[in-house]
Amino acid sequence: MKFMDSRRRALLAVLAASVLPPAIAQTRRMTKPIPSTGEALPVIGLGTWQTFDARGDKTAQREVLKIFAEMGGRVVDSSPMYGAAESVVGELSAALGLRERLFMATKVWTSGAEGGVRQMEDSFQRMRVERMDLMQVHNLLDVGTHTRTLREWKERSRVRYIGITHYSASAHAEVERWLKAEAYDFLQINYSLGERDAEKRLLPLCAERKVAVIANRPFAEGSLFRKVKGKPLPPWASEYGIESWAQYFLKWIVSHPAVTCAIPATANPAHVRDNLGAGRGGLPDAAARRRMAEYFSRL
Ligand SMILES: NC(=O)c1ccc[n+]([C@@H]2O[C@H](COP(=O)([O-])OP(=O)(O)OC[C@H]3O[C@@H](n4cnc5c(N)ncnc54)[C@H](OP(=O)(O)O)[C@@H]3O)[C@@H](O)[C@H]2O)c1
Repeated sequence: MKFMDSRRRALLAVLAASVLPPAIAQTRRMTKPIPSTGEALPVIGLGTWQTFDARGDKTAQREVLKIFAEMGGRVVDSSPMYGAAESVVGELSAALGLRERLFMATKVWTSGAEGGVRQMEDSFQRMRVERMDLMQVHNLLDVGTHTRTLREWKERSRVRYIGITHYSASAHAEVERWLKAEAYDFLQINYSLGERDAEKRLLPLCAERKVAVIANRPFAEGSLFRKVKGKPLPPWASEYGIESWAQYFLKWIVSHPAVTCAIPATANPAHVRDNLGAGRGGLPDAAARRRMAEYFSRL
């Protein structure tokens, strides 16, 4: 009898959760743990390539960063390769008083140990941080050299986490070799409904080796929107709290068990609001992910 009561209570709780009004369901910001430490990160972050390379008027970027933080976003990804982006992130996060709230990620993108150290020191200045949350080797450029520096910097707490990045399936085999050879906290890799190669070997490997995964190019640089232009969302998308194609693409990515977060880039305040919406309202399960991928592939 006791067993029946607890089962009934559990069933009632599930039913209650499923009928919560959207406003309540959407108040919970979803996070996932960084496997190497358990630290929780919100599943939607912010990329800065092109969108934060602003030299004159930075009103749009300021608004984007403000909304991003207000909606609970933390991971901001940049690189010395992205023009003024690191400086813009540093300047705006200081002006908005966000430094403590954000999880700052950038990269080293040069050859040689000394050049790498100089470039990383410059990134600290530009992003206005004493300690970088995540430093990544950009596109595996001189990765062996920089990994040695980064291991040492992590021991000295100059950086909290270290990782490697790439954006192309042509480099996935080399990425795999480095993941097996070194102990990285993070892999940042291209993964989306338009670029699924990472799920073959890299995502399972990261799960096995307890490496956090940041999905870059979540909209395949915006090309996914061109594919769905003028096409309606399937009626069942609302069951997963999906209100836009951006949320459809992002929820599909971050619901992969090995993915920690995705970093869509935008310079449009309405778009950052839309994207952060994908970090609320629950995630599709494995069957729903298959359904989403099938629907997308038939468009
Ligand atoms: N090797 C590497 O390390 C590497 C390589 C590639 C990317 N990355 C990182 O990953 C980040 C993301 O990748 P990405 O910048 O290539 O492309 P992306 O995030 O896949 O797509 C960005 C494009 O999507 C548009 N967009 C964003 N949100 C939207 C929304 N809600 N509705 C409609 N359009 C929307 C943006 O335009 P609007 O500005 O108009 O919104 C922009 O044109 C980069 O910024 C960078 O931080 C790293």
